[in-house]
Amino acid sequence: MCGIIGYIGGGDAAEIILGGLKRLEYRGYDSAGAAFLADGKLQVMKKQGRVEKLSPLLKGVDARVGIGHTRWATHGVPSDINAHPHRAGGFAVVHNGIIENYAELKAELILGGAKFLSDTDSEVVAHLLQKNYNGDLVFALRETVKVLKGSYALMAICEGENRIAVARHKSPLIIGYGADGNFCASDEPALAGLCNTITILEDGDIAEITSGGVKIFDKFFKPVSRLKEPNLAVSASLGLDGCPHYMLKELRETPLSVEATARAFGGVKDSLRKELDGIERIILTGCGTAYHAALIGKRYIECFARIPAECETAGEFRYKNPVINNKTAVIAVSQSGETADTVEAARLALSLGAKVIAVTNSHRSELTRLATVVVPVAAGPEICVAATKSYTGQIAALYLTAAVLAGESVYSECAEKIEKIPALLTRTLEDLDMRSLAHICASSSGVYFLGRDLDYAVALEGSLKLKEISYVPGEGYPSGELKHGTLALIDVNTTSVVIITDEGLAGKSENAVEQVLSRGGKVAVITNIAEVEERFSGKLPVTYLPKCDKLLSPLLSAVAVQMLAYKAAAVLGREIDKPRNLAKSVTVE
Ligand code: BG6
Repeated sequence: MCGIIGYIGGGDAAEIILGGLKRLEYRGYDSAGAAFLADGKLQVMKKQGRVEKLSPLLKGVDARVGIGHTRWATHGVPSDINAHPHRAGGFAVVHNGIIENYAELKAELILGGAKFLSDTDSEVVAHLLQKNYNGDLVFALRETVKVLKGSYALMAICEGENRIAVARHKSPLIIGYGADGNFCASDEPALAGLCNTITILEDGDIAEITSGGVKIFDKFFKPVSRLKEPNLAVSASLGLDGCPHYMLKELRETPLSVEATARAFGGVKDSLRKELDGIERIILTGCGTAYHAALIGKRYIECFARIPAECETAGEFRYKNPVINNKTAVIAVSQSGETADTVEAARLALSLGAKVIAVTNSHRSELTRLATVVVPVAAGPEICVAATKSYTGQIAALYLTAAVLAGESVYSECAEKIEKIPALLTRTLEDLDMRSLAHICASSSGVYFLGRDLDYAVALEGSLKLKEISYVPGEGYPSGELKHGTLALIDVNTTSVVIITDEGLAGKSENAVEQVLSRGGKVAVITNIAEVEERFSGKLPVTYLPKCDKLLSPLLSAVAVQMLAYKAAAVLGREIDKPRNLAKSVTVE
């Protein structure tokens, strides 16, 4: 996904746009750009790389109207020319989303004499605006979006008009009402500290934004008034609090995330129980780390409620013609609530008659708008691209959701058990020392995370975390599968991290440790079992976690593997909060 922001008012548009782009950078950082109207003339500056590279180009810009963009490349490599804004004559546009029919539109426009400069899909919008313009930018945008297929959040300005025209379809777009002008942006954190009141546009909305006010039109182009709400993103919560990276800050907020999520759950417990009454089958879905939380949620549901539950990545679920009816519930897990595959999976489930339960950290997202019931994750803003505290918050939310399904007495018992976890997480974070293991992993040709049952789900998360922020290759595997393939990869240059928290399975997992050792591979163990710690301590790196209820052990082993990934990435000097090629939430397919 990309981040877009616009401003019009009496303030310094260049400064405002630049500050907003810095807060939006977690949405994509392949390139950045901005366009301004200064004395009625359009100025466009854009540059491959991070927002800081754009900053010098904006020196001396004196403007009151501007739009800006930070890019996660989908069509066209990261480059100056493919950076947004895209321009055609006196028109400039920024776009988040994918124009699926851009090729045919581009061909038609070229036949009409348009000269394209970039390889992007978005550039067609600039040329369409120029083609459709009849003296009214909002009208031109309305005519333009009529021919677009796909997803878009668009902002456009043009010479001769002192306003911003915006349009939204399937990509998030909000309006912000300021004391000295008005704003538009992809999300609330972009406007933190700039405005306290926002409006979330709906699919099909088009809006005109001037310094004096905002006019919104629905998909039939009828004037409509949308809800004004408080901007939940407070700039204070977006600071680093002295940490070198958001990832470390957010890891340290894990205890709060679990505690606040468990507390917030009380507010949805009854509606959840009512909506899920009579459900005979549950499908959990999500992407990336959210999918890994869903894997744990599946186990909880089958363990507590004995309701058949299965797990699919959203990108797979959508295209498998899933067997769903009104006795099915689909639990969609998503930190942002905007990941295109997860949102479309939820939309599909609803169309097939299922109840959709959203487990999300974003309470004003497309997914929350779609869902039958929203189970809030109260992790607070998560800026680091790699999910950490939102993952543990999702596990907490799924644990209590599964408990509710099993009835009041199980729920009360589980609510009591999870209350003990934040203190254990705080202790774990204080005691964790992953430095030496981090160096070992950082210098390994491959790192393999192994576990059984819930430990396997955490192994998948550990592997993804390490890959996405340190770029060290590897995989997460069920320990039992080691001898059926992965063992062929094991040599002196590899490291295996074996997670052992289930006493009933400890012996089997210890076999995996011996098998790797027998092939010369390096091994480390993460455990909360004293006998396992005693057996391997002094022979190989052992991370000994506090004991807790078996089903809740993923909350503690998760912070161990996430901290390991963080330290290994630090050893390698990686861009930890903004890993290459990635974005915080992919709102395109
Ligand atoms: C990826 C992020 O783009 O999307 C991951 O880099 C995240 O950290 C995944 O887990 C899913 O995002 P979300 O917002 O749906 O949980």
